[in-house]
Amino acid sequence: MEINGWIIYNGYLQGNKFLDFAEWLKTAASQKGITTTIWKNNELLPYLTSHHTGLIFNDGHQIPDFVIFTDKDIYLATQLEQMGIRVYNCSDAIRISDDKILTYQALSADNLPIPKTIIAPKIFTNDIEIDHDVCQGAINTLGLPMILKEAFGSFGEQVYLVHTIDELEQKVSSLQGKAFIFQEFIDSSYGKDMRLHVVGDKVVAAMIRTAPDDFRANVTAGGTTQAYQPSEKEMEMAVAATKAIGADFAGVDLLFGIDGNPIICEINSNAHIRNMYDCTGINVADYIIDYILNIQKT
Ligand SMILES: Nc1ncnc2c1ncn2[C@@H]1O[C@H](COP(=O)(O)OP(=O)(O)O)[C@@H](O)[C@H]1O
Ligand SMILES: [Mg+2]
Repeated sequence: MEINGWIIYNGYLQGNKFLDFAEWLKTAASQKGITTTIWKNNELLPYLTSHHTGLIFNDGHQIPDFVIFTDKDIYLATQLEQMGIRVYNCSDAIRISDDKILTYQALSADNLPIPKTIIAPKIFTNDIEIDHDVCQGAINTLGLPMILKEAFGSFGEQVYLVHTIDELEQKVSSLQGKAFIFQEFIDSSYGKDMRLHVVGDKVVAAMIRTAPDDFRANVTAGGTTQAYQPSEKEMEMAVAATKAIGADFAGVDLLFGIDGNPIICEINSNAHIRNMYDCTGINVADYIIDYILNIQKT
């Protein structure tokens, strides 16, 4: 039986990066004899009535056996699942990965190593007086310097390091209306982290990222990457983290704790694979396709 898949990416994001990921997957699939069609999310409109859950714009196209979802459009992913299609990664994994608060809750529920984290109370508006008690409570528990991190963000752009109570209160005030956390700063990992790419039960590629003059390893100005052979413990943590959010594959960021103990920083359900290829020569897309075929054929 012929297997036929869709690859979905976001049609609104600028730059080639997202189409690039989709095309790498398509190439890897076609090398295994699998036909895939690449779609933008805005080409497949979820359509709901009281007796039908479907899509507009897929006229004439056969419903696929599987979808590789390289985007974070959780509603579209859910719609496809409601139509009975297997989506890689599933909408739940994407939702948890996208929201750093849900991610840390899932990791903590599985007793995995994370930086100590306090979830900021929800504020609906952005004109509330600074809550000194909350800020002082965070300092009492986590100390200074401390990380503040928005629930939704990427490329290190929504992650902040604060050194004083004044800096902390200023930042908290500017984050009103957004979901964020206070987090222990792991200073043994200043400016470096590990990116491990997990597919199924295995780490298939890994690299160390270093930033020359920033605490965030993924801030790219002058940053370097280096192929890396992770320890057993690091691989075990990356796989466990991927499972904790229910993902099939993921790019897991680990921080360097003291005594070689890794600490989980983040799990990306739609991690890009080009940087990993440039650094290690390993094409993660091949592993992703093999993994999917293995499941689809059974
Ligand atoms: N608690 C922490 N302690 C030390 N460094 C951190 C901590 N959290 C994040 N970082 C650094 O900041 C970078 C970006 O944080 P991350 O949570 O991965 O957000 P993003 O989704 O923007 O990549 C990480 O790669 C790491 O180098
Ligand atoms: Mg990250």
